[in-house]
Amino acid sequence: MAATSLVSTISRRLEGKVALITGGASGIGRRTAEIFAQHGAKLVIADVQDELGHSVSQSISSSGAKNDVTYVHCDVTDENQVKAAVEKAVKSFGKLDIMFNNAATTGDSKLRLVDSDKDDFERILRVNITGVFLGIKHAAQAMISGGSIISTASISASLGGTSSYAYTCSKSAVLGLTRNAAVELGQFGIRVNCVSPFAVATPMVKEFTGLGEEEVESLSDEMANLKHVTLKADDIASAALFLASDDGRYVSGHNLVVDGGFTIVNPYSSMIQPKI
Ligand SMILES: NC(=O)c1ccc[n+]([C@@H]2O[C@H](COP(=O)([O-])OP(=O)(O)OC[C@H]3O[C@@H](n4cnc5c(N)ncnc54)[C@H](O)[C@@H]3O)[C@@H](O)[C@H]2O)c1
Repeated sequence: MAATSLVSTISRRLEGKVALITGGASGIGRRTAEIFAQHGAKLVIADVQDELGHSVSQSISSSGAKNDVTYVHCDVTDENQVKAAVEKAVKSFGKLDIMFNNAATTGDSKLRLVDSDKDDFERILRVNITGVFLGIKHAAQAMISGGSIISTASISASLGGTSSYAYTCSKSAVLGLTRNAAVELGQFGIRVNCVSPFAVATPMVKEFTGLGEEEVESLSDEMANLKHVTLKADDIASAALFLASDDGRYVSGHNLVVDGGFTIVNPYSSMIQPKI
């Protein structure tokens, strides 16, 4: 084997794997789909934004990665649609190895209790919790010989006051779902983990904040603990890649926080740190 093809085979960390990514038409899900494809995965991209989903699927197919990629309409709140998306992966590619429960919504951007609306609260929970629950439930049943289930939580799962009540509750619940499922599914060789990003300038965050990409990134840089680096969707996709691949083969029940240390900062640390 030529040296270059040996390197590319070794560096393709998902060769022969089949992945289903919800919320794969945009933001973090889209970048994860692109990076998983570069690493040799066969993909089903599931979303409710059909035009965008089809165009992402086509752009990955034509990128030269020579992957099998397909798009399926799937509203994660609908059990039949989640079941059908899992079945599509198995029917198209013979199995399911990786499930990335990444679809979510922020709803309206009201942060105070008195302004929070019950219908909006329940709608967000349906997408962000029920959607993840259904994804774990149906993916696990298809993972006959083990697999990796990853969900996107948030720093809101570990820290109060970063988002709306509904969003914060939903992401805390993703952590609970992850731990419960990791306990039950370990016996079948299925690993269950979640990834918790700090702020990434995706369409969701731009819409929530009403800011453009550069403005979100400069605000994120300003708030960040880790300086001289801007958090990108690629960083979250890389964390998902680690958990999806054999690199993370003994990691289960874990919340991989990708926040540059934001959630562990002591706000009074400057009083005890020596000045540099
Ligand atoms: N961007 C951030 O700063 C950030 C931080 C922490 C966590 N997250 C999480 O990352 C994940 C991806 O978000 P993003 O920032 O890339 O946003 P995004 O809006 O770009 O992507 C979310 C995708 O989910 C899809 N979606 C929404 N409701 C759906 C439903 N009912 N069924 C199927 N698909 C649905 C949307 O159509 C969209 O394509 C979400 O779980 C989000 O909560 C994002």
